[in-house]
Amino acid sequence: MRPLRLGVLGSGKGSNFVSVAAAIRRGEIPGEIVLVASDLAEAPILELARQRNLPIHVCRPGAFRTKLEPEIEKDLARALVAARVELVVLAGYMRVVKEPLLENFRGRILNIHPSLLPSFPGLRAWEQALRAGVNETGCTVHWVNHEVDGGAVIRQAGVPVQERDTAGSLHARIQRAEHRLLPEVIRDLATGKIDWPADPRRRP
Ligand code: GRF
Repeated sequence: MRPLRLGVLGSGKGSNFVSVAAAIRRGEIPGEIVLVASDLAEAPILELARQRNLPIHVCRPGAFRTKLEPEIEKDLARALVAARVELVVLAGYMRVVKEPLLENFRGRILNIHPSLLPSFPGLRAWEQALRAGVNETGCTVHWVNHEVDGGAVIRQAGVPVQERDTAGSLHARIQRAEHRLLPEVIRDLATGKIDWPADPRRRP
C-alpha cells in the first residue's frame, strides 16, 4: 500500500506527533510524515521533528494569537501542498483554521481534542471537565471545519475522572489515551477502514 502523506501541525510539546511518528516507525501506519509545521518558532515539536530529520515549516510571526494572518496561512497551505500532503493532522495546533487551509485541504484535516466532544470544546478542556464534576471525559479525533472543535467526530476514547484528580493528573491520563487514539485513527484512514468525507479531492 502506498504510504499516506501526512503533514503534522503543532504549537506545543509535540507528544501526539511523537506517538504518530513512533507508530509509523513500528510499521503500524502505512504513512509517512512529509512535513511538520508550527506557528511558533520555539515550539518543542519542531526540535522533535529535527531530531527525526523531518522537513519543517515555521510560520512567520503575525499580529494575532488565535489565528494566522491570511498571508501567513496561505504560505503554510502552500508548503503543505508543495509537500504533497494528503492528510493534515492538527496535533496541538493552537490557531483557528481559516480559509487558506480549509480550501486546500477540505475534508482532509483532522484534529485531536482533549474531551468527549461536543462536551467541553475550546481551551483547557480537562479543567472544564473537572469543574463540571463529570466522572468520565476523554479525547476526540474529528474532522476540521470552520467551527472550532465542531467538525464531525471520527472516533473517541473515554477516560475516567478520579476523585483525587488534579488538572495535571487528569490531563496526563487523557494524553495517554490520545497517544493511542490518534495513531489508530490515522492507520484506519490510511488503510481505508475509516471512510473519508465525500470530496472530489479526497485520497485517490
Ligand atoms: C493535546 O492534549 C491535544 O488534545 C490538544 O493539544 C494537546 C497537544 O499536546 N489539542 P502535544 O503537543 O501533542 O503534547
